[in-house]
Formats: sequence, structure tokens, C-alpha cells
Amino acid sequence: MGYMIGIDVGTSGVKTIAVTPEGKITAEAVAEYALHHPKSGWAEQNPEDWWQAALTCLREISGKLGSGASGVKAIGLSGQMHGSVFVDKHHKVLRPAILWCDVRTAAECRFIHEKVGKDKLIQYVSNPALEGFTAPKIVWLKHHEPDIYKHVYKVLLPKDYVRLKLTGELFTEASDAAGTLLFDVTQRRWSDEVLKALDISSDILPPWRESGDICGYLQDDVAEAVGLPRNIPIAGGGADNAAGAVGAGIVKPGRVLTSIGSSGVVLAHTDTPKTDPQGRVHTFNHSIPHKWYVMGVIMAAGLSLKWFRDNFGQIERQMENLTGRDAYVFMDQQAAQTAAGAEGLVFLPYLNGERTPHADANARGVFFGLDPRHTRGHMMRAIMEGVVFALRDSVEIIRDMGIAVDQVRAIGGGAKSPLWLEIQANILNVEVAVLNIDEGPALGAALLGGRAAGIYNSVEEAAESVVRVGDTVKPTQDFVQRYEQYYQFYRSLYPVLKESFQIAAGMR
Ligand code: XUL
Repeated sequence: MGYMIGIDVGTSGVKTIAVTPEGKITAEAVAEYALHHPKSGWAEQNPEDWWQAALTCLREISGKLGSGASGVKAIGLSGQMHGSVFVDKHHKVLRPAILWCDVRTAAECRFIHEKVGKDKLIQYVSNPALEGFTAPKIVWLKHHEPDIYKHVYKVLLPKDYVRLKLTGELFTEASDAAGTLLFDVTQRRWSDEVLKALDISSDILPPWRESGDICGYLQDDVAEAVGLPRNIPIAGGGADNAAGAVGAGIVKPGRVLTSIGSSGVVLAHTDTPKTDPQGRVHTFNHSIPHKWYVMGVIMAAGLSLKWFRDNFGQIERQMENLTGRDAYVFMDQQAAQTAAGAEGLVFLPYLNGERTPHADANARGVFFGLDPRHTRGHMMRAIMEGVVFALRDSVEIIRDMGIAVDQVRAIGGGAKSPLWLEIQANILNVEVAVLNIDEGPALGAALLGGRAAGIYNSVEEAAESVVRVGDTVKPTQDFVQRYEQYYQFYRSLYPVLKESFQIAAGMR
């Protein structure tokens, strides 16, 4: 029997799975690492930690496969987008990687908009400059650490650094290149226009391939160290969102992904490049050749509920210790006992600032409308609803762009909550499906590996042979109407508070 391995280089750790071509998950391994915040707003990681975690996972996977390890036919990579790994010509890492959730680059984003022109930038690379993207980090390095900048030989994305260690090869692929702000998403080439305007040499960018192309082979010493066969082909792989979409079967128009993990994502497949002229949602290349997706990202989805659990969920955490059932199951029960709309309590989930649609690093979380009747249950429900209102903002933009939203496929921790699924169906007013398999980007990465090794004829075929819809939740019209009123109210709050968020940021 053959296996494909998917390695996802995430923000909290590396997740690795081994899967058969029919979609049976045979082994799984996770290794975590630290996220460093050396200054307020900074978020950095040590690329060596990713590599060590990947090695640990691969060793564990080959151990779990036992004699089956000799049947591993392909490896695919996926990873957190936008992070910049600066390496010199000896492939030595020059400084810690600056991550997607690092917001130090507000001034560099303004600089890019001034140099290129915001409208022009959207025309060239389909997106405006946001703090998280890669180009502002390169400009930051140039402006703030010129002594390091002059030694930069290549800038790599996180998963592409792990590829370098696995294969010795320097490559990226279209879906991750798209998140650099230096890739012409529509024409599918590095953007000479933006590189020139920012005075960045195209030499520092690696060559790019398709996600399902072979980009190197497992080096002998690594194969030996982890107990896998030599020369396994390694696919280009994908940005975590693109690979996650493949792993959820978002490979056709009309299919939309909602992911409630730590952050939240709404992602819609498109057959042609569609760009929001205001740049509120991102337009990136899919992991399928000549396909695209549009995406909205909210910074604190599951994170908002986790914040509540960690600070106010002592009872539920005790229940978890006593029963072995997850604290979130008990939180769900508490929230379900309160009415839709949490009796007027509205939550804005901007704990970490917000990306879509406000692009405002200074925004912060708000409970609006607390009154003495409100309990912890109301607060939990309001958090779940507020997160979905924030996702609805992206769905609205996507619908406005004329992109079909026929079926939502829910993934991530949030999809494990029956209440949260119901809230999604009612606030988004669309059928919400859960899947037979929810392994996220690691599965997409493995499938891309399968495509590269010739196990499947196309990425679409890979996804359709493995991913199927399980249960579905349909909207209930009474709730749809009630939530419509709440959503319009939710929407009215940010513009009123925008200025106060700036003032509060100054006070912090
Ligand atoms: C996408 C983004 C995040 C990271 C998380 O634009 O910044 O979803 O990819 O890993």
C-alpha cells in the first residue's frame, strides 16, 4: 500500500499526517514550538524550530507506519503564509522569521502605497499592502536592519525553508508566492512593476512552480535520519489556506470554506481572478493551476472563545478534568441555553486588531449592551455569534463581487460545535456542511504530494476522491431574520468606534 505524507508548518507547531490515496489517515504527529513577541506587535519564530519539529514529526510518522514506511510515495508541504525567512548565500538564516501576524510594518505599508500607488498595486498584484504580507517585511528589513539586508540571498516562505532542508532546493509555488505582494496573481509571474518601484531585486526571490509539481527529492541523509525511503518526490505544496481548501474539497465554483481555528477564514474558489477594487478581501492563486480564490481573514475567531475559556471558564475546565470531555463541549451547552442574539449582547471579536474588512491593527474586542440579566452563557453565545458576524462581513463582500456562495464547508475547531454550526447556517443564511475528514492543510499538502507523484491526474481529482460531505445544517428562517437585525447592528458599531480604537491605542 502506498502513503502520501503532508507536512503543515503552522504557527503553533508542525502537523504531519500519512494518508492512503483513498483518504485513510494512517499516522499523525504534531510537534509544537514557541512564538516570540520581542516587542509589542512583533511576532517571530526561529526557522530551525520548524525544521526540528518537522524532523520529530517525520520520525514519529515513520515509526507509526513501521514496515509500511517503505511505501511512502510522496511528500507535500503547506505552511503559514507571508512569513519571511532571510537566508544568505550559504543558506544560513540571517535573523528570526517575521510572521504573518506581525504588525510592525504599518509605516512600510504606507511607504509601499506611496511608491506604487494603492490602486496600481491592486492592479499589479491584486491586493493592497497589509502589515502581515511579505513585501512590507522586506522593506522593513531594508530600512531598519540594512546590515542584514545586504547579506540576503533569498527570501523564503516558512514551508519553503523546510523544503530547503528536506531537499537542498530553493523553490516556492504559486499559492504562497501570491501572499508576498510581489507576485502578479492574474498573470502568474513575479511582478517586475512592484519589484522595480520598491527597488527590490528579483534575484532574492526563489523560482516558483505549480503546487502539484515536483520541487525536489528527499535527501539521503534526511531519509536516513527519519527512517523514510530515499528520493521521495516533494511537491511544491501550498499556502496553508490554499492547501486547506484542497483538503476541504474547495475545488469548484460555488464552494466556500469557513474555518474557525485560532483565526477565522472565509475562502471562495474562483475559475478566473476576481479582485475587490477596494482590496477588502485577498485574491490569491489556488493550489490548482490557473484557478484562484478570494479570502477574508479575521484575526481572532477561536482565539476569542479560547480567551474566554482561559480567563472565565474555570468551571468548564474543571468539568474537563473530571469527565475527560473538552471544556468547549460544556461551554457550548451553556451558550445553547441562551436565546439567539444573546438578549441584546453583541461581541466584536477584534482582540488582535482586525484584517477583513477593516484592516485596522488598533481595533480591539468589545462586549456591547451588557445588562444585569446577562450570564457567562450569554457572553459565550455572544462571542460565537460575533465571530460569525465577522465572517459574514467577508461573505457579503464575496457575494457583492458576484461570486457564488452555494455551499459552505465548515472546518477547524469551530466545526466541532453543533451550536456554532447552527449559528453559521443562520447568520450566513446558507447550508453549512461538515466533512468526512477534517485534517486541514496537512491533508491538502499530502494530496498535492499525491498529484506530484502521479497518484492522481489532477488536484481536483485528488480532492474529490478523498473529501466528502457528511452532515449538513440548514438555516431556519425565524433565526435568519432575527440574526439579520443583529448583523446590521453589529455592522454599525465599528464605524462608530473606529476613532475610539485609535485613541485607546495611543493610551496603551
Ligand atoms: C492569510 C494569513 C493566515 C496565515 C495563517 O493571509 O495571514 O491565514 O496563513 O497561517
